[in-house]
Amino acid sequence: MNGVDRPDPAGEHLVLVGMMGSGKSTIGRIVAERMERPLIDSDEVIEAATGRTVREIFATDGEEAFRALEAEALREALATAEPAVIAAAGGVVLRPDNRRLLTESNARVVWLMADPALLIERVRNGMHRPLLDHDPEGTLQRMWDERQPLYQEVADAIVSVDGRSIGEVVEAVLR
Ligand code: S3P
Repeated sequence: MNGVDRPDPAGEHLVLVGMMGSGKSTIGRIVAERMERPLIDSDEVIEAATGRTVREIFATDGEEAFRALEAEALREALATAEPAVIAAAGGVVLRPDNRRLLTESNARVVWLMADPALLIERVRNGMHRPLLDHDPEGTLQRMWDERQPLYQEVADAIVSVDGRSIGEVVEAVLR
């Protein structure tokens, strides 16, 4: 946790981070509606900017090229003037520069935390998740082990999604 106590969230971006399948896009869409803010979904930004799908980018240019686009999408989203809800793709915490950007910006960062067992049920057949094409269970578990401390590092708040309905998670995020 970056531990900064900021009592007034008005005017600051709200960033949702977390593993694939934790519900960032779904929760982000509803939270954005409730807050009357635009939603910026980093995967969608990348696909719109490149005219290619996440899967195509991974296949043709490789993961590093995708991570560079992801970093750029995060930088641009955080730099927008209008306060937004930003659904950041799961791997955004991998680069130290991205983590620094998240902790040093005024954005409120909420980690949607989910148990790998829940995630694996949700991410089956995810078209934009080529990293899970082979051994999805094992890969997801390894990602969870690697990324948990990274999400923790950037989070101002942690919302557990296990055993909660979408509505309950939305309320928790808004709180
Ligand atoms: C990834 C998460 C995906 C997508 C890509 C890589 C990751 O986004 O960016 O498949 O490394 O965690 P979501 O978190 O929106 O599924």
